[in-house]
Amino acid sequence: MSHVDETLAAYETIAARYDELNGQMDTAKLVDRFVEAADRYGSGGRRLLDAGCGTGRSSTAFRDRGYEVTGYDLSPAMVAMARRRPGAEEIRFRVGRLQSPPPGLAGFDVVACVDVPMTYLTDMEQLERSLAAARDQLAEDGVLVFDLNTIGYYRRTFGVPAVADRGDRYAAWFAVSPRIEADAVVVTQFDLFERAVTGWERTSMRHVQRHHSDRTVRRAAERSGLRVVAAHGLVGTSLREQADEEDHDRVLYVVRRT
Ligand SMILES: C[S@@+](CC[C@H](N)C(=O)[O-])C[C@H]1O[C@@H](n2cnc3c(N)ncnc32)[C@H](O)[C@@H]1O
Repeated sequence: MSHVDETLAAYETIAARYDELNGQMDTAKLVDRFVEAADRYGSGGRRLLDAGCGTGRSSTAFRDRGYEVTGYDLSPAMVAMARRRPGAEEIRFRVGRLQSPPPGLAGFDVVACVDVPMTYLTDMEQLERSLAAARDQLAEDGVLVFDLNTIGYYRRTFGVPAVADRGDRYAAWFAVSPRIEADAVVVTQFDLFERAVTGWERTSMRHVQRHHSDRTVRRAAERSGLRVVAAHGLVGTSLREQADEEDHDRVLYVVRRT
């Protein structure tokens, strides 16, 4: 199975329960950081494309902050959940890949890729294709804003096997990849054990992501007709002015057309 098919399978499996299982992520607060970045570096325009919108949590958070939102995602099951999200009735959701988005998406003041969709682009070609596609979706003075996991985050979170006890549910995860290195693919096995009528039910999936170093992002952006205008750190959902690949969880990038 290709990496993108594995990602698709993982999100199709989990879509119906994604919001519940990912409840510890405060998407509204994360979106606040994206909005601040768009206000600081962008044109102030309100047309926003939520690329990798998942179940629409980020899309409705942007809408609540005054944006006119269109969203798309790789997974039809995630998009189906987004279309059913209360309050998302006026948001247009489509199915498509960052590497080959749905046609006709152009002229956006902000393209946002929230909660690491771009980590699922597992080689340079896919990263460049996705950045080039985002470039074409932007208005002349628009900004693309996206977050990526740091190497420190991959090591801390997936480098050692972990189990979370959530009452009637246990989640276990560990990196299958032997080493977590800069610009390398990180394969993480997730197993979810949930109490059933008799015994436990197990759901397994693999997430195939890639660490993109700052050098790689800048090179890929340049080759795609974009330039990095800011790279801030994120610790949880708190912003740090200068990104640190070891200590911070994520880097929040802002890029513009050259
Ligand atoms: C962690 S979820 C975040 C969803 C949403 N932005 C949010 O904040 O709730 C990552 C999403 O990225 C999507 N994704 C992964 N690879 C993708 C790709 N190549 N093209 C489009 N979407 C992708 C997944 O289907 C998933 O819905």
